[in-house]
Amino acid sequence: MKTVLITRKIPNKAIELLENQGFRVIIGSKTKSLTKEALIRKAKNADGIISMLSDKFDKEAIDALQRCKVIANYAVGFNNIDVAYAKEKGITVTNTPDILTDATADIAIGLALAAARNFIKGDELVRSGKFNGWAPELLLGKDFKGKTFGIIGAGRIGQATARRAKAFGCKIVYYSRKKKTDFENELKAKKVSLNKLLATSDFISIHVPLTEKTFHLLNKENMQRMKNGVVIINTARGEIIDEKALIELLKSGKVFAAGLDVYENEPNVKREFLKMKNVVLLPHLGSATFETREAMAKLAAENVIAVLKGKKPLTPVD
Ligand code: DGY
Repeated sequence: MKTVLITRKIPNKAIELLENQGFRVIIGSKTKSLTKEALIRKAKNADGIISMLSDKFDKEAIDALQRCKVIANYAVGFNNIDVAYAKEKGITVTNTPDILTDATADIAIGLALAAARNFIKGDELVRSGKFNGWAPELLLGKDFKGKTFGIIGAGRIGQATARRAKAFGCKIVYYSRKKKTDFENELKAKKVSLNKLLATSDFISIHVPLTEKTFHLLNKENMQRMKNGVVIINTARGEIIDEKALIELLKSGKVFAAGLDVYENEPNVKREFLKMKNVVLLPHLGSATFETREAMAKLAAENVIAVLKGKKPLTPVD
């Protein structure tokens, strides 16, 4: 009987599907991420693995896999897996694209609203009992209508976020390797260079995958080009922004506010962020809805089943 390791507890749908197809399912942990040692120990003899974005499959971890034919990442991002090395070893890697696009775009726009309209300061004021009633200049924020919303990475999630920003009345500019004609036609979006996007956007939202090329794509040098009072949103991966530089710009007021769902050294969040009231901090909730996680569980299981039955996976990573 073939064994599938699911490294963390995910919706039961995945287990049902796998067991119905005759696989033995092992859950790595019900409560917390596996340590590297535990991951290697539990994954060693598995034929297939459903992995979390917090499981690092580097060369060492991949070398330890004795029977594995497929790693189905329970995420759209796959920077936690050395995909090229896995391929060399005959292991297929899959991810969960499309089904989490809307949930993640919702979080990006939610963060933009919360950051631009002072949700954190407002919530704290009310809870502290210091709210003395409406006031003409209390916690003024930023309008969306008529502003420029810069999308860095116009893939599925970037485009879905742009669609929402457009509905709020924003003008869309985007930075992407490829021109996206349909997207341009649909939203009157304009492709610009990264420097132009930084210099002209009132809101900047990050949607590129983390790679060697996108590490610190926003850094101390190029963030100086941004407009004063910009709002920055990151729902992609923490390492894409140099957080140290962002902290300085939040302190100086050049960045009005930021909304972050991801961090450079996740799950550790820089102490300075914790003290700042102009940063909205979420614990990586991009895809965290009941419906989306259920769909991700189903897709991950279907990918494992396909590969272990000798068929083509539904959503392989290139
Ligand atoms: C993913 O799946 O890669 C995203 O981080 C969801 O939040």
